[in-house]
Amino acid sequence: MSLLEVSGLNSYYGDSHILFDVEMRVEKNEVVALLGRNGAGKSTTLKSLMGVVTPRTGSVKLDGVELASRKAHSIARQGMQLVHENRRIFGSLNVEENIILAGLTAPNRWPLERIYTMFPRLKERRTSRGTDLSGGEQQMLAIARALVRDPKIILLDEPFEGLAPVIVHDLVRACRDLAQAGQTIVLVEQNLAATLALASRVYIINNGHIVHEGSAAELKAQPGLLQQYLGV
Ligand SMILES: Nc1ncnc2c1ncn2[C@@H]1O[C@H](COP(=O)(O)OP(=O)(O)OP(=O)(O)O)[C@@H](O)[C@H]1O
Ligand SMILES: [Mg+2]
Repeated sequence: MSLLEVSGLNSYYGDSHILFDVEMRVEKNEVVALLGRNGAGKSTTLKSLMGVVTPRTGSVKLDGVELASRKAHSIARQGMQLVHENRRIFGSLNVEENIILAGLTAPNRWPLERIYTMFPRLKERRTSRGTDLSGGEQQMLAIARALVRDPKIILLDEPFEGLAPVIVHDLVRACRDLAQAGQTIVLVEQNLAATLALASRVYIINNGHIVHEGSAAELKAQPGLLQQYLGV
């Protein structure tokens, strides 16, 4: 049994059919990337896993537990966390309050020191309000808020988007440390270099259909696939 098993997933916005029979598997300790063009259905896939969008049909099993018809808070309690494209932090609270609040209802929690070891910048900024953080710091905080709940799996939606290369470098390093510590990650990214540096396996989604699944190494060796599905 894989940690995450997704099968036959179909999601809609109103009458618009967006995801078509999406199938994915993620093993424990694995970093898997989901790639695709703008509008391909990457965020909708993550939202459907997390219950932000309720899939019309299909199965999402985490650790053998069926989640497909549940609400997001219930799915979070089962050990899944989604870090959205638009970082969601509380601007009026400071960094440390943001982290503590996120952890309050979690069955297991990371100690604050573990968060600060992963993101030393957040420790330096612990008393700064959310609104005073740079884009990179906000992203670190958004990830920290997910990690403090000690998730079985974390879904990252374009965590490096719009950030300066030096910040991306720091975040990639933090993600790699996380992966090495055994954190299971599903990563959606447009930054191909960062993705292939982190993920061992890749799915490509196109118009709501999974059109390719393979190792990251294989994808690097097949530029034709990248050209065909990603236009790079
Ligand atoms: N709330 C919504 N209501 C209606 N249609 C939506 C909604 N959100 C997304 N869509 C549509 O669903 C399709 C998939 O969107 P989605 O956001 O999943 O794509 P994406 O792969 O994440 O793209 P991007 O790279 O731009 O983030 C697109 O055609 C988009 O226009
Ligand atoms: Mg998206």
